[in-house]
Amino acid sequence: MARAKNFNAGPAALPLEALERAQRELLDYAQSGMSIMEHSHRGKEYEAVHDEAIRLLRELAGIPDAYDVLFLQGGASQQFATLPMSFLPAGKSADYVLTGVWGEKAVEEAKGLGQVRLAANTGKEAPAAGGGSTRSYTRVPKQSELELDPAAAYVHLTTNETIGGAQFHYVPEVKAPLVADMSSDFLWKPFDVSKYAFCYAGAQKNLGPSGLVVVIARKDFLETGRKDIPKIFQYRTHAKNNSLYNTPPTFGIYLARNVLLWIKETGGLAAMERRNRQKADALYGVLDKHAGFYVAPVERASRSTMNVVWTIGRPELEEVLLGEAKKAGMVGLKGHRSVGGFRASIYNAVSPEWVAVLTDFLDAFAKKHA
Ligand SMILES: Cc1ncc(COP(=O)(O)O)c(C=O)c1O
Repeated sequence: MARAKNFNAGPAALPLEALERAQRELLDYAQSGMSIMEHSHRGKEYEAVHDEAIRLLRELAGIPDAYDVLFLQGGASQQFATLPMSFLPAGKSADYVLTGVWGEKAVEEAKGLGQVRLAANTGKEAPAAGGGSTRSYTRVPKQSELELDPAAAYVHLTTNETIGGAQFHYVPEVKAPLVADMSSDFLWKPFDVSKYAFCYAGAQKNLGPSGLVVVIARKDFLETGRKDIPKIFQYRTHAKNNSLYNTPPTFGIYLARNVLLWIKETGGLAAMERRNRQKADALYGVLDKHAGFYVAPVERASRSTMNVVWTIGRPELEEVLLGEAKKAGMVGLKGHRSVGGFRASIYNAVSPEWVAVLTDFLDAFAKKHA
């Protein structure tokens, strides 16, 4: 089978080794005569997988003991709501740093639940791909641009905006607890968990299949959450029960375990960073080489190492490019429907070889059509 060179933004490419292991174990997990999906979440086979996934995540990301690791459901979008529900009490406000569409969605949910301030907003009015106007985000703010409220309940940022392609390459210094949506750049490199009070990530980019969300949060911060909301929405409920309060997404967690093992066997997060930087450099390199033909709108200092976005000045060539790329085995290069153009998501599992095929293709395409 020829594997598609998959540049989708999420659900996205998974490491072949993780999938092959799942294939080998699918019908008969650990000689139990059934698949891991069919095991009770209270049984010893599943619990071993669950605990191994948490242990590997703690080891790879260097998560301190003062932090809980939770496996939740409902997508990162549910976190947009459960966060303010828990941590934005009446009389306080939360600071949001807006650098793209996902941040907008987080703000929208928080506004429905409490008071929100924008500590920064790098969006500008721009024409939308399908007509009308939208906001275009091409950078993250500098530290000096952040207008922070030291008394904020928390400061929320999106470390990597999957659609616009702007990524934070520094961790803002803030007084209030720092909360980050890391959905599309989780585990792309080593990161200092201790700078954050609360991080969350949907799994379907760098960690596994959709249906699973990881939360890494300081225990004392979690304890400050409201107690007068339904138990299922209180983070402490899941923390106290090792994410086994109710039935977790067992197969998603199993596959995340396989992906974490692959990361470990590949050399951990430092190796991921080397691999990811090399891929991003190659791809931005070819876009810059043909800068008159391709337009990479994100400012250099904010360029995403995970989601590389670009357009071409000649819209009539868009479908041609996508069609030829598909013939060459590449999928997922169409930009998000709200912004158009192209996007190559080059998460951990996207190999440098696939990126080399894409860069050679873009180079040849530009030479032919420029
Ligand atoms: C940065 C970011 N945040 C949040 C989400 C929403 O995730 P979900 O669809 O799992 O709710 C996405 C989805 O792609 C994302 O890229």
